[in-house]
Amino acid sequence: MTKSNETVSFTRMDAGTKADYDLLARKFEPYMAESPDRYLAALEAQRHERSSGYPIDRCEHALQSATRARRDGADADWVVAALLHDIGDALSPMNHDRMAAEVIRPFVREEVTWVVAHHGIFQQRHSGPMNGTDPDAREKFRGHRYFEAAAAFCARWDQVSFDPGYEADSMESFRSELTAVFARPAFDPRYVRADEAVGFPCIIGLAPDEHA
Ligand SMILES: [Fe+2]
Ligand SMILES: [Fe+2]
Repeated sequence: MTKSNETVSFTRMDAGTKADYDLLARKFEPYMAESPDRYLAALEAQRHERSSGYPIDRCEHALQSATRARRDGADADWVVAALLHDIGDALSPMNHDRMAAEVIRPFVREEVTWVVAHHGIFQQRHSGPMNGTDPDAREKFRGHRYFEAAAAFCARWDQVSFDPGYEADSMESFRSELTAVFARPAFDPRYVRADEAVGFPCIIGLAPDEHA
């Protein structure tokens, strides 16, 4: 990581000059380019958290989810979503799905962001019968253009990825997808593709009850 000593001249923002703000803009670019390093470090930190009670740690869960996405032929948007979908667990445990969605929102399809933002409620389909949450809570979204993708995301990549016997790809192997996604211009309509249901990679052609 580059660390230059060059700093702005001001101590309060409204005293900044054009040169000061040009400097900040110049420094922001390499900072953004290091985003993949920061996300990989955040995942690595999840390896060392207190045990959640699952048979694998949160980092391994992320790698398994993303590996399943890859092996289903998912594109970089989906792979990054699967990799980071629980990145908010530590800092926002009661709202972790929304936090992860905000991390990826500027850079991926709206459909993918929506799925990550709502995966908690869709996940209850699989855990609800035994943990006291409502397995049908997702039904309020039935008919939404991204409903089927959210159901499939949880069914195929998330809820099954707690398996010590599953061989996931290495963390470093996901640098390519992270770099591709976070190098995009933020909120660019070419990538956000608002209101467009592209669909989930491996359920196209399946009946809804075959994947969720
Ligand atoms: Fe989650
Ligand atoms: Fe998860």
